[in-house]
Amino acid sequence: MRKKFIGGNWKMNKTVVEAQTLARRLADRLSDVGFADIAIFPPFVDLYPVNIILREKESKIILGAQNMHPEPNGAYTAEISADMVLSTGAKMVVLGHSERRHIFLETDSYINRKVKKALDSGLLPLLCIGELLDERNAGKTEQVLSKQLNGSLKDVKLNSADDIIIAYEPVWAIGTGVTATPEQAQEAHKFVRKVISEMFGEDIAKNLRIIYGGSVKPANAKELLSQLDIDGAFVGGASLDADSFESIIRDSDISI
Ligand code: 13P
Repeated sequence: MRKKFIGGNWKMNKTVVEAQTLARRLADRLSDVGFADIAIFPPFVDLYPVNIILREKESKIILGAQNMHPEPNGAYTAEISADMVLSTGAKMVVLGHSERRHIFLETDSYINRKVKKALDSGLLPLLCIGELLDERNAGKTEQVLSKQLNGSLKDVKLNSADDIIIAYEPVWAIGTGVTATPEQAQEAHKFVRKVISEMFGEDIAKNLRIIYGGSVKPANAKELLSQLDIDGAFVGGASLDADSFESIIRDSDISI
């Protein structure tokens, strides 16, 4: 059984004080949660201050960064290395988010370098993939997902399914209020698992967590999370508010 994973991508939101306030609230409310892994991804400047709160509260919430640079150090103004991310207390890193791909023009081969560096450094990557609306309408969803997976994970060595988490985030569903239907999401997740099986073998594919992102909110979380191949959610807007993020997390408890 794959344990559910619920991530909150705060994107470019929350000052240091705001981030600490939200982290404190989440740590207090979610201390009883054992049925799912919970992670939050604040902006870089908030990572260390948020880590202080999570440690103070002895919280199990996992801390992650939203990006990193593949090189270990050097003249890369405004970039952040894997070791710098780790030094804040973060254990995970989001790579290949659609906003990085489409606004900042990151390519699969660049993302591939980051995935390898993250794994080498001991950071758990949360790799994001997803098609544009035009690509879906042209019937190219599977082709796009396959290309992104093959490109981003080229020559990557996975020792176990716990080495990486994949987020399927259809670009047309991100921040738009339009969610993929549970059937559309399930179909894409099943396909992703098939590609992973071809690349890394059945055992890894069976145990790897594939989470869904794109306008997940309390009103639609339960149905999405009950699909066979949907192992969690990657939540943007609704993770900025403790009430809605908590509600989504509690909806991932399939025992009730
Ligand atoms: P929204 O939940 O705001 O659509 O964002 C999803 C997302 O991009 C998570 O990474």
